[in-house]
Amino acid sequence: MQFPFVQNIYSEEETINLAKVFSLLLQKGDCVSLIGNLGTGKTFFVKNLCKEFLIDDANSPTFALLNVYLGKEKFFHFDFYRVRSEQELLDIGLYDYLNDEEAVSIIEWADLFPAVLPKKRYEITITLNDDFSRTFTIRKL
Ligand SMILES: Nc1ncnc2c1ncn2[C@@H]1O[C@H](COP(=O)(O)OP(=O)(O)O)[C@@H](O)[C@H]1O
Ligand SMILES: [Mg+2]
Repeated sequence: MQFPFVQNIYSEEETINLAKVFSLLLQKGDCVSLIGNLGTGKTFFVKNLCKEFLIDDANSPTFALLNVYLGKEKFFHFDFYRVRSEQELLDIGLYDYLNDEEAVSIIEWADLFPAVLPKKRYEITITLNDDFSRTFTIRKL
């Protein structure tokens, strides 16, 4: 995969395939930020990415802020959608999670609090197009 990577996606199947390809690059300590409006498929992508690591119960942490999964790798799955302030993130020890070199961190709605994101990360932006296809852009920052 070369960066920036851009693909138009026309089905859930194609999202699943992209998650598979992307999963091969992921290593312990990596961070993935996800940007895209409600319903663009951020959680769907994360679910399928996690499946590649034998995690079958990945789900939206919208109400929990953070889900922890243990599979072939350890994952911290954040969703910033309902976070009200940066302080709230600091209070739960965000940086302890992000600095855990044994885990992969994935953050939905990462653009709501850009200041807390690790500079080195993969950033995936999903946009919905007029023909209902989705454009996935993956950058390596
Ligand atoms: N590539 C896709 N093609 C069609 N539907 C999709 C695709 N990706 C996700 N969806 C559907 O879109 C809906 C919303 O996805 P979700 O992952 O919850 O969005 P988000 O987390 O961005 O709010 C889900 O019902 C999911 O099945
Ligand atoms: Mg979601």
